[in-house]
Amino acid sequence: MIIALGVPGAGKTTVLKSLKSDYKVVNYGDLMLEIEKKEFGIKDRDEMRKLPIEKQKLAQKLVAEALAKMPGKVILDTHCSVATPSGYYPGLPFEFLKLWKVESLIYVTASVEELKARRENDPMRKRDVDNIALHDEMNRGYLAAYSAFTGAPAVVIYNHNGKLEEAVAKFQALLR
Ligand code: AP5
Repeated sequence: MIIALGVPGAGKTTVLKSLKSDYKVVNYGDLMLEIEKKEFGIKDRDEMRKLPIEKQKLAQKLVAEALAKMPGKVILDTHCSVATPSGYYPGLPFEFLKLWKVESLIYVTASVEELKARRENDPMRKRDVDNIALHDEMNRGYLAAYSAFTGAPAVVIYNHNGKLEEAVAKFQALLR
């Protein structure tokens, strides 16, 4: 499994959509949202990170277990950490990482100004005005920890404004 990570607005989903490969792209948030809609009655993905942590953790665990059984080559579109009202919490706790065979961890990011503007220009979402620089910094700490735990290499790809093709080419080059 290849794991693609990033702060909201980094453009990881956009980059993944442009790849040409035989990997199946699976979005962790989509699978969690299905569960949380059914079990906890939420309506959209911006309500997810505001659910009590124990509810998020339950949905996160169910998805992790389903992923462990998923056949074929998978790119997982997910988060290093989730900014919740109670603090940052890890997207990939070690108890889940140990269930998967991780090939590489690819962190997509951009400058704080670019991330801020992308969030402000997305009318479809209810984005938080969180501390983007701090979230990005926290994520790099989590990324290093995930890499050390799994033994999989960590890669940072910048997806700057107007440079989507460059980011896609860098990601594409990492696929076998
Ligand atoms: P998810 O859907 O993965 O997160 P998200 O916050 O919705 O992230 P986005 O998909 O919006 O950001 P993105 O970086 O993919 O950016 P995009 O390509 O859209 O997850 C949803 C929720 O699920 C999370 O909030 C969390 O609660 C939960 N979750 C997920 N994984 C979890 C886990 N492991 N544990 C616990 N909970 C988990 O691009 C953004 C914008 O930028 C777009 O408008 C795009 O057009 C633009 N853009 C992109 N690239 C460029 C570029 N090069 N130049 C100019 N514009 C660009």
